[in-house]
Amino acid sequence: MSSLRTRGTRTMLALAIGALSLPGNLMAQSPSVPSLAERYKDDFLIGTAFDFIQNNPITEKEQELIRRQFNVITPENSMKPDSVHPAEDRWTWQTADRLVEFCHQNNIKLYGHTLAWHAQTGRWFFEGENGQPVTREKAIERLRTHIHTVVGRYKGKIIGWDVVNEAIADGGDGSTENLRQSQWVKAIGPDYLTMAFKFAREADPDCQLYYNDYNIEKGGKFKSSLLLLKRLIKEGAPITGVGIQGHWGLNHLPYVELDNAITEYKKLGLRVSISELDVVITGQGGGQLDPGPGPNGAPPATRPGAATRRARMRGPLPPPTKEQFQQQADAYAKFFQIFQKHKDVIDRVTLWGIQDARSWRQGQAPLLFDGELRAKPAFEAVLNAKHK
Ligand code: G3I
Repeated sequence: MSSLRTRGTRTMLALAIGALSLPGNLMAQSPSVPSLAERYKDDFLIGTAFDFIQNNPITEKEQELIRRQFNVITPENSMKPDSVHPAEDRWTWQTADRLVEFCHQNNIKLYGHTLAWHAQTGRWFFEGENGQPVTREKAIERLRTHIHTVVGRYKGKIIGWDVVNEAIADGGDGSTENLRQSQWVKAIGPDYLTMAFKFAREADPDCQLYYNDYNIEKGGKFKSSLLLLKRLIKEGAPITGVGIQGHWGLNHLPYVELDNAITEYKKLGLRVSISELDVVITGQGGGQLDPGPGPNGAPPATRPGAATRRARMRGPLPPPTKEQFQQQADAYAKFFQIFQKHKDVIDRVTLWGIQDARSWRQGQAPLLFDGELRAKPAFEAVLNAKHK
C-alpha cells in the first residue's frame, strides 16, 4: 500500500515537472516504456548499430528493443570493405543482406558504413603486380568498382553512406588538413576523397553522402576538418554532411566545442549527424581503438582485430557507482539539449550499439541500456531532455 502510494506520488511529481520517472529495472523493450524514436520523431532519427553476427546472435528481446526504440540502423561491421569485399574477385553479402532484410521487414531505415577507410580494408586493394605497390590508376579503378558495386547493390534501400571514414590524423595543430597517411592517400593522393564521393553519387543519385570522423568537434582536428570539408566542396565533391562520431566520456565532454562545430559545419551548407554516440563512464573517450601494450610490454599488434581483442581482454573495470550512472545521465541529457538546438541541420543521432555488453567499449558502460536490457538512468535522461 505504502509502496503504491510512493509510486503514485512519484508519478504525480513527474507529471508536475513534465518529466518521466521510470521504475527501476525496467526492461527497455517493453511496450510500456516510451520510445526514443517516437519521442524525437519531429527532430531527427534515433539510431543504433549492430549486425546479425553468428557467434553472438542478436536475441529476440534485443530485436524487440530495436524495433521499439530506434528508427535507423547502421551496420556496425558488415558493410565495411573487408566484410563485403575480402578479395578482388570475392564479394560476401550474407551478413549485410540479413540486416537489409530486417530493416525492410520492420520499416526501419538503414544507413551505410563505410566505403573508404584506413581500417578493415583488405590489403589486396593496395597490392600491385609482383609484390609492387598498386599503381594509382589501378587503385582508382578498385575504389570505383568497390563503391559502385556496394552502393549500387543497396540503392534505394539505404538512406545514406559514410563515404569516407576517419581521414584526418590525430594530434595536428589545425594549420593543415593533416590527412592520415593511409593506404588510400599513399596510392591515390589527397583527391581520393573527392573521387570516393563522386563514385558514390554515380551509383546512387539520391542518398546522403557523409564524411565521418571522431574528435573533429574540437582542437586542431576541428580546424583540419574545416579545411578538408572546404576543399571537398571546392573540388565539387557531392557531400551532404559531416558525421561527428561522438565517442565521448565523463572525462571528455566537449559541449561548447560541439555546439560551435555544428554551427560552423552549418555555415558550410552541410548537414550533420551524430553517427556513433557513446559516453563512457570510465576510461578515455575518443574514437580509435586503444590497443594498449602487447604481451610483456611489446608494441601493440597491428594485425586486424588484435586491438579490439586486446582492449576487450583487459578485463572488466570496477562497476560504476550510482553517482557515476547519474553523471552519465546528465551528460547524455546535455548532449541531447545541444542536438535539439541544432535540429534544423541534424539528420540522425545514432548510438554505437544496442546495449553495454555488446559495445566495442564493453566494460565502460557507455550506452543507454545495460547488458540485461534494463533502461539506465541515461535512457530516462535522454527521454526527459526532449524540449516541450
Ligand atoms: O569477425 C571476427 C570474428 O570472426 C572473430 O571470431 C572475432 C574474434 O575477436 O573477431 C571478429 O571481428 C571483429 C569485429 O569487430 C566483429 O566483431 C574484429 O576483431 C574487431 O576488430 C571489430 O571491431 C570493430 C571496430 O570498429 C574495428 O575497427 C567494432 O566492432 C566496431 O564497433 C568498431 O566501430 C568503429 C567504427 O567503424 C568507426 N569509428 C570507430 C568505431 C569504434 O572503433
